[in-house]
Amino acid sequence: MIKVAISSLCLVSIASALSLPSYIKPCKLDDPNLNDCALKQTKLAFPFVSKGDKKIKSPSLIPLFLPLIEVDTGPNLKLKLKDLNVYGLDGVEFKETNFDTKTNKAHLKMSATLNFIGKYEINGKILVLPINGDGNCNITFSGGDFTYDMNWKLFEKNNKQYAQIETHKLDMKLKRTYFQFLNLFNGDKLLGDNMNKVLNDNWEEVMKEVGPGITQTLEVVLHNVVKAYFEHIPYREIFV
Ligand SMILES: *[C@@H]1O[C@H](CO)[C@@H](O)[C@H](O)[C@H]1NC(C)=O
Repeated sequence: MIKVAISSLCLVSIASALSLPSYIKPCKLDDPNLNDCALKQTKLAFPFVSKGDKKIKSPSLIPLFLPLIEVDTGPNLKLKLKDLNVYGLDGVEFKETNFDTKTNKAHLKMSATLNFIGKYEINGKILVLPINGDGNCNITFSGGDFTYDMNWKLFEKNNKQYAQIETHKLDMKLKRTYFQFLNLFNGDKLLGDNMNKVLNDNWEEVMKEVGPGITQTLEVVLHNVVKAYFEHIPYREIFV
């Protein structure tokens, strides 16, 4: 009985550890130029990572599908974005990847332009103006600079070391946001066109209300991708 239990445990532990996918080349933990290696390998691996990896349970990002974002904009405005496809993640450019393997921290810098295409429902007031409608929308984050900070702790699972993310934060700076909400005000074209113009002319103010909710969603997506790799691949296969 005991023997059977032990051998089936071993099978489980072997099955749960995946080795590093061939599209990721490891960096050396004690490489004095670790970050040159990390940046180069991240750039090479990302086109594969972004396609998604079923074994790792990492989602496809081309396009990224977001079923629902309920943008928390306070009591005056309700905004829901639904069935969104996010285009442009395949064009993410990595500028910096700073891994500190002594303090278990990473700081990444990326740039991208993202299109969010899908449906919206809006009701309330924005920039003190009444707004309501539902229909198709196109929100474009143009010239985005993103920074992602995370730290992790190491723990043992089945005699192997794994990394687990402890904190993570995504920040975003945009050159411009473009809004296009179709069918505002029950399809009144004049009112709708005017409102879209006001939103675009005041994009920075509008982003203060709707930006954080969208950034948070992107942060969760990014977190889930990194987490998927950390959960399935022993740390010392990523950093050898
Ligand atoms: C969305 O808006 C951007 C910026 O105005 C535009 O370049 C893009 O073609 C639009 N995409 C769709 C699918 O309408």
